Amino acid sequence: MDQMTRSGFFQELARRASRPRPNLRALFDTDPDRATQFRIEGAGICLDFSKHWIDRATWQWLCDSLDALGFRGTQAALVSGDHLNHTEGRSVLHMALRGDAQDPFAIDGQPVMSAVLHERTRCDAFADAVRSGVIRGASGQLITDIVNIGIGGSDLGPLMACQALEPFRAHGPKTHFLSNVDPAHWASMTATLDPHRTLVIVASKTFTTQETMVNASRVKQWLVDAVGPSAVATQMIALSTNQAAVLAFGIQADRMFPFWDWVGGRYSLWSSIGMAIRCQIGSEQFSEFLNGARAMDQHFLTAPLTSNLPVALALLGLWYRNGYNLGSHAVIPYSQRMARFPAYLQQLEMESNGKQTDRSGNSVLWQTAPVIWGESGTNGQHAFHQLLHQGTEIIPVDFLMARKPTEGDQEAHLLLLANCLAQAEALAFGEENADPHRRMPGNRPSSIIGFNQLDPRTLGALIALYEHKVMTQGVLWGINSFDQFGVELGKRLCTSLAPALLTPSHHQPSAFSSSTDAWVHWIHH
Ligand code: F6P
Repeated sequence: MDQMTRSGFFQELARRASRPRPNLRALFDTDPDRATQFRIEGAGICLDFSKHWIDRATWQWLCDSLDALGFRGTQAALVSGDHLNHTEGRSVLHMALRGDAQDPFAIDGQPVMSAVLHERTRCDAFADAVRSGVIRGASGQLITDIVNIGIGGSDLGPLMACQALEPFRAHGPKTHFLSNVDPAHWASMTATLDPHRTLVIVASKTFTTQETMVNASRVKQWLVDAVGPSAVATQMIALSTNQAAVLAFGIQADRMFPFWDWVGGRYSLWSSIGMAIRCQIGSEQFSEFLNGARAMDQHFLTAPLTSNLPVALALLGLWYRNGYNLGSHAVIPYSQRMARFPAYLQQLEMESNGKQTDRSGNSVLWQTAPVIWGESGTNGQHAFHQLLHQGTEIIPVDFLMARKPTEGDQEAHLLLLANCLAQAEALAFGEENADPHRRMPGNRPSSIIGFNQLDPRTLGALIALYEHKVMTQGVLWGINSFDQFGVELGKRLCTSLAPALLTPSHHQPSAFSSSTDAWVHWIHH
């Protein structure tokens, strides 16, 4: 896809979006078949995108354009291990992590599946041994709790999945997630933990992330103080690509579960980074989680573009971002267990596609990722939905809902679903009222994403759905979705600022702005 071709696409998109804005009620009235026409299914997920500002012709044009821009070729390049993350010279092969022996995933002609399967088996065996009590604490006690120390992709995915899949824990250990360097985070956790029964996972791709390493040292000391030095070898494990740093920290090689630089941090929960999930639900359920994602991969790679779930989410997102300049997108799961799903998607989408430079190093000429945010329904209805319904910004929404409850009573679950459907209906069609304060404008777009039940397989498919959405949008925007240089400067400045705070005599006033200097002074005095 060269810049001219892409520019032509965005120009035409803007031209189409500049026509009078489609009216959702009119779209439904003129097309009695609309609910069926704009409903697609795959990998156990059903997407209803009938409540959007598109008609059949626009939809066909969007899909044809993606095809004409060579999208199928990019998908093939992804599978064959091309260095799509060109700024870091890396392949992007997280799909291989849920693959099987016959899959063709390779890097520079070298197949990767045997290494992937070898490490998967090691992780599965370890997690099941923790659950069955074969692996115990240094003093011989059963492991009842797991603390996962990590941040960003080494935290958000496992945390979100463990919360979502809690009903599948059975007798497995409870999981806790320590991410923030704020000492209050660890302090709030220790009271409930017995160091003799706690397994500590240090999850860090690089094993250099400041917050994670500070927390890991702090928790290591807690174990040593309570259990003795042998607890480091027995009760600490590492998930990382950096063996030298893991060994230097004091974790043995046989307690390190590696992965590879071709797995981006925010795409890593399928690798050993998913260890907390594995320990919580066991290897059998974890393989269901992988299978769900794999089913979505197959759907993404083979379903026609017009009925392809990730492609649909990607194109709808582009339509509003670039056609109508809408800068925000809400994700509202009607599932309390999925409360952290929006936070997980924030990293996935905003760290991947929050970019302003295209693949050739030029400024992009169009808007890229919107702000992604959300909260579980029905809670959000009593907080921010007012703005969704009557605010001056229009914010497209993804509503997610499960047909059946995983726990609890059916009646309350049906009430939950009634709320979800009612919100989408109210947003789309509004209500006339003579009193302008009570007028509901309607014509506000939303998707409904339905699935049978929130289980490991479904969650795997949902995550993969959004992963592929992000990749598809990145391709259309012409950016590299797989690096994150924007986070580096802040880290570097913190490294040089920290000594000024920790040892005031190190402070060199000229190194920072007068504003920062004033705050350093304020902290010390
Ligand atoms: O700061 C951003 C980031 O690099 C994320 O991309 C990553 O998921 C997170 O930090 C944690 O990195 P690591 O797993 O190397 O500790």
